[in-house]
Amino acid sequence: MKFDRSVKIAPSILSADFANFGAEIQAVEAQGADWIHVDVMDGHFVPNITFGPATCAAIRPHIKTVMDVHLMIAPVDPYIQAFADAGADVITAHVEAGPHIHRTLQAIRATGAKAGLALNPGTPAEAAAPLLDMVDLICVMTVNPGFGGQKFIHSCVQKVTELREMIGDREVHIEIDGGVDPSTAPLVVAAGADVLVAGSAVFKGGSVDNPVPYGENIRAIRASV
Ligand code: DX5
Ligand code: ZN
Repeated sequence: MKFDRSVKIAPSILSADFANFGAEIQAVEAQGADWIHVDVMDGHFVPNITFGPATCAAIRPHIKTVMDVHLMIAPVDPYIQAFADAGADVITAHVEAGPHIHRTLQAIRATGAKAGLALNPGTPAEAAAPLLDMVDLICVMTVNPGFGGQKFIHSCVQKVTELREMIGDREVHIEIDGGVDPSTAPLVVAAGADVLVAGSAVFKGGSVDNPVPYGENIRAIRASV
């Protein structure tokens, strides 16, 4: 993975057909997705359950771009190696998921994966300050994690501005997750974000049999920024 700050669209397969992940991933990549965002939920850290490392390993061969795994689980550390073995390029853990985020980030990097740090809407930018040299990506949650299709929380935009300033010249991506669509994407890109996760805004109106809307939706987000 080469670092660059161009805007990247990362469709979240949380909004895809769960019985058809392979074909859905191939469809959104063919329609212009830059990364594939994979939401792992445990029913404990967040009030929803999705899937684990076995599913990640099964979908990996279908991903030609970047496999961006967002862990909404607690604890995180016992599962890091399994997600790395599943082929994750980026593994993101939440600062709120346990008392030892520093150790977690070290463990992620030790696998060879890029390390991501996610901040819930209620967590300030300062939480990332001691960790800036240990991360490759900071994921700013712009909804409370757990479900797709929620409303973008506008007060999180200021946090993006603050993080962009804190990051300085470091090669750290700022990713936005939750409620990204053509009306909200320009706000976060102007504030300094470069990776835009979008679930409902990419998958709406399309299917594996009718993937053209995926491309239209991706281009609409790209055109808005
Ligand atoms: C929410 C997930 C998001 C979600 C975004 O907990 O982390 O990745 O899929 O979905 P939208 O784009 O529909 O808000
Ligand atoms: Zn996510």
